[in-house]
Amino acid sequence: MARPFTAESGTGCNKGYKLIVLGVESSCDETAAAICSNNKILSTIVSSQIIHSNFGGVVPELASREHELLLNTIVNQALAEACIQKQDLDGIAVTRGPGLAGTLLAGVCFAKGLAQGLEKPIIGINHLEAHIFANFLANPELKFPFVCLLVSGGHTQLWLVKDMENYTLMGTSRDDAAGEAFDKGARILGLGYPGGPEIEKLGKNANPKAVDFPRAFLKDEKLEFSFSGLKTALLYFMDSRKDNNISLEDIAASYQQAIIDVLVEKLAQAVMKANVKTCVIAGGVAANKALRKAFESRLASIIVLYPDLSLCTDNAAMVAYLGELYLRKGVSSAMDFDIDPNLKLA
Ligand code: KG4
Ligand code: ZN
Repeated sequence: MARPFTAESGTGCNKGYKLIVLGVESSCDETAAAICSNNKILSTIVSSQIIHSNFGGVVPELASREHELLLNTIVNQALAEACIQKQDLDGIAVTRGPGLAGTLLAGVCFAKGLAQGLEKPIIGINHLEAHIFANFLANPELKFPFVCLLVSGGHTQLWLVKDMENYTLMGTSRDDAAGEAFDKGARILGLGYPGGPEIEKLGKNANPKAVDFPRAFLKDEKLEFSFSGLKTALLYFMDSRKDNNISLEDIAASYQQAIIDVLVEKLAQAVMKANVKTCVIAGGVAANKALRKAFESRLASIIVLYPDLSLCTDNAAMVAYLGELYLRKGVSSAMDFDIDPNLKLA
């Protein structure tokens, strides 16, 4: 049953805050908690699980166990940094999907226990929506409508965001997501996980034109992506590498450039199609500096926004912020709400 929401001033050193929301994020391998009040982030703690780096990807069972071990500490740290007592919270927002079933369960069960114990409202949050709304935290002046390129480890999507809860999917990937292409590419190149930052670092001062990797649908008007062919091309290229003397740095830069070219072109097409003046980029891949630069030069005539690096990759600040927006609208979840590993945005 949904609990009635009452926004009351807090106590102690948080006096004056009208609404204080705890955000909890555990959809993959980041254990995160944050406190948001009146659309401002008072604290944000992210613990990235390094345990997976030996495996070249996230091991779901290990990730769930790590969340269970860490959640209490991370939440207490977020409360302490914000100078907030648990009892001062007005609500709890927690990611309910999409993500890994076990890791989502760890976060949702923890948040439900806390909400029930404190008799506070709880709201289940869509992780994709939170990524999009991270842009409002970074750019409070951002106005609807805008196009969002959502590029995370599991999703590459173009959304027309007309208003809160009014989202139209303009395009998506047929197979791998851009983040997945970075991660799988890094594995082929013998780099660590997550692959995006590794490839970016290796290719930073290298030649992005050294290898002409395929760019699927680049000239096609359809707003579709496909990255599995690129990954296979890299695999074949590395197999035949002894026949050429192209450096690993140049290969990484060329591989990254192939991903960037497609993302930039498709975002430009989507902006034209939607006829909007603003676009935003969200999700972990948006942290890529070469990608940001490419957007700025290709889309010079429109406003291109992206969150700070720490708000691109998984965090709980975006969850707490979106939770506050919903709680303000009087929306909360029934205590028996479930996780949904395949949760869609629209
Ligand atoms: O949004 P996110 O943190 O988690 C998901 O919701 O999936 O995105 C993770 C993805 C990973 O695939 C990671 O390799 C990629 O974002 N990523 C990057 C960079 N930082 C993280 N990709 C390219 N360049 C980066 N600097
Ligand atoms: Zn994410």
